[in-house]
Amino acid sequence: MKSRVDSALFPAPGGPALVVGGVAVHPGYIDPAAQAALVEDLRGVIRAAPLFSPMTPQGRAMSVRMTAAGRYGWFSDRTGYRYIPSHPAGTPWPPIPDAVLAIWRALVSAERMPDCCLVNFYAASARMGLHQDRDEADFSWPVLSVSLGDEALFRVGGTTRGGPTQSVWLRSGDVAILGGAARLAFHGIDRVRAASSTLLPKGGRINLTLRVVD
Ligand code: SIN
Ligand code: MN
Repeated sequence: MKSRVDSALFPAPGGPALVVGGVAVHPGYIDPAAQAALVEDLRGVIRAAPLFSPMTPQGRAMSVRMTAAGRYGWFSDRTGYRYIPSHPAGTPWPPIPDAVLAIWRALVSAERMPDCCLVNFYAASARMGLHQDRDEADFSWPVLSVSLGDEALFRVGGTTRGGPTQSVWLRSGDVAILGGAARLAFHGIDRVRAASSTLLPKGGRINLTLRVVD
């Protein structure tokens, strides 16, 4: 698939990417001081747009709690998966923090900023089943993922369900890019390794995904 990512498979400022199932992983791209600053930014996002537990279309509460920043937030309920222009409480989504946009600018493009920064919070028992990110209008833009806090086992497959998969532990500060042929790869989180990071005082993992929506 055509991709707007120029840099995903080439050395980035933080060092060369590791390619896992077509996903470019930049280990330790964000240094510890910048991770701590990002967490502070995200506290502000969560104050303005509190975490909630989306319901799957099948009526089950997802184990991951979510919120968002940007023009859109991702949402799910009995009606299905979609982007919505305000928090479920009716308040506007806060802006995407500048430090988050800077990661996108450095690794993806300065031409177009993402419309949505989805914030996923994983407690130790949370997981995310294999899925594709396909609620966006233009798959030529990648999805960029930032991991903060406890390590998580990320599984990535091909573009059809049920094929072979590969796994990699994503650690605090890692950035992963699902672009090109991997833009529609099935992916998910099998488990979180509790207490593997001290970034978040109460533990857990935050994952940010930046998406161009429309
Ligand atoms: C997602 O697929 O939305 C999140 C992936 C992750 O938590 O690393
Ligand atoms: Mn996803």
